[in-house]
Amino acid sequence: MGHIIIENLKKEFIDRRRASRTKGNSNRFGARVIILDGIDLEFDEGEMVCVLGPSGCGKSTMLRIIAGFDPPTSGNVLIGGKKISGPSSDNIFVFQHSGLLPWMTVWQNVELGLRNMKDNEEKKEQIQEYIDMVELEEFEDHYPYQLSGGMQRRAELARALAVNPEMLIMDEPFSGLDFLTHMKMREEVVNMHQFIGKTILVVTHDIDDALVMGDRVIVMSKRPSKVKMDRKLDFPHPRNYEKEPDLGKLRDELFLMLGVSYAV
Ligand SMILES: Nc1ncnc2c1ncn2[C@@H]1O[C@H](COP(=O)(O)OP(=O)(O)OP(=O)(O)O)[C@@H](O)[C@H]1O
Ligand SMILES: [Mg+2]
Repeated sequence: MGHIIIENLKKEFIDRRRASRTKGNSNRFGARVIILDGIDLEFDEGEMVCVLGPSGCGKSTMLRIIAGFDPPTSGNVLIGGKKISGPSSDNIFVFQHSGLLPWMTVWQNVELGLRNMKDNEEKKEQIQEYIDMVELEEFEDHYPYQLSGGMQRRAELARALAVNPEMLIMDEPFSGLDFLTHMKMREEVVNMHQFIGKTILVVTHDIDDALVMGDRVIVMSKRPSKVKMDRKLDFPHPRNYEKEPDLGKLRDELFLMLGVSYAV
């Protein structure tokens, strides 16, 4: 199920603000802007893939297409051999920035992911387990507005894990978190991946996240976007740059590729 094939994926948007009388890719509705310009990728079942790329290159657009929220302009996405035609909450869960339902408590939000579970006792245990995992015990009865940004994010992660999807798609899951929470959640996601072995796609701006977490790192070019680098990361976890000098070299390479001339 978690095997994904992306075939010659293209996505264009019409920019209505651009003058329609200019020559080339425009008509009376506006100018065609090519975002994804022929993306070919294949992900193995159980792979953790981290996607990097400059801001605005189309990373979120690609995730939305894979999740079935947006149709491609052309090309295909096949998940488990089936062409996607819309979102499927049973198989995919998209980790969104403000994905919590504001009128539900932390407990109820996590419970949503387990709504099909029959055994009430087991369900309660699991909800508590996920809430404890993200260290939100004692905040079960709080509503999202009563939580800090980092706590909201942790509650979202608990709910995503509770859904136990075949595939997990995360768009910048750690953005806005404080340094320590970021480190902890990153470790949690790596552990969880090793434990459940599901396919996980993560878009991140953080090169270290990609190198510490990924089985594979994909770098997209700026718009119109293509795959610029596709590299397997066969390093055991937990990873660090002292232990793995090749990982450090790759880090420098990625900084250069993304337009920073020295690693920070
Ligand atoms: N619905 C839309 N209509 C028109 N243009 C859009 C739409 N959605 C995205 N775009 C454009 O597509 C481009 C890619 O957007 P996207 O959000 O995928 O980038 P990104 O790589 O995720 O960027 P960031 O790293 O900043 O999140 C942007 O130029 C954006 O303006
Ligand atoms: Mg984005």
